[in-house]
Amino acid sequence: MYKINIKSTSPEYTLKIGKTLATLLNKGDIAVLTGELGSGKTKFVEGFLQNYNLQNEISSPTFNIVNEYVSDKNNIYHFDVYRLADSDEFYAIGGEEYFEKGICLIEWGEMISDVLPKDYIHIKIVKSLEDENLRIFEFEVTEDSKYVKILDKLKSIIHSSNNSRSV
Ligand SMILES: Nc1ncnc2c1ncn2[C@@H]1O[C@H](COP(=O)(O)OP(=O)(O)O)[C@@H](O)[C@H]1O
Ligand SMILES: [Mg+2]
Repeated sequence: MYKINIKSTSPEYTLKIGKTLATLLNKGDIAVLTGELGSGKTKFVEGFLQNYNLQNEISSPTFNIVNEYVSDKNNIYHFDVYRLADSDEFYAIGGEEYFEKGICLIEWGEMISDVLPKDYIHIKIVKSLEDENLRIFEFEVTEDSKYVKILDKLKSIIHSSNNSRSV
């Protein structure tokens, strides 16, 4: 597997990581988000939506499984599949029809990995035990993934903006 880690020191920094990844993804791309309650999955998606000026509309998809966000540039589909019993339930809501229509951000998507396309970005958010504002974002893809280059770009954009102290 190919992995990059990015450390987030604040909610604002997590917004920035999400927003920056959004500039690098396009229709048909998929990111899976995993991390315990309060780790920052929704905060990350909020940053992602900032890139499309859609951040004010964010709500948790816990009760509807999927929330749709439409901008003139892209459609964003934000899923939370935690409560689905199995992949059949994902088919039942027409889940796989969303893959081609926009960018899919799927909380707990590894639970339905058998219905996902093989190539997607797995984002694991790990909370620090010592610092309540610290999160480690682990981005993982296969070695032959089309996302390897995208993750390299993400890392270099984030690090160069750190050095110039811009937000
Ligand atoms: N570095 C950080 N990144 C993201 N959230 C953070 C960070 N530090 C503190 N927080 C707080 O943690 C909480 C994350 O909540 P949320 O994004 O809803 O998590 P989840 O969707 O994973 O349950 C928010 O209250 C946020 O302010
Ligand atoms: Mg959430």
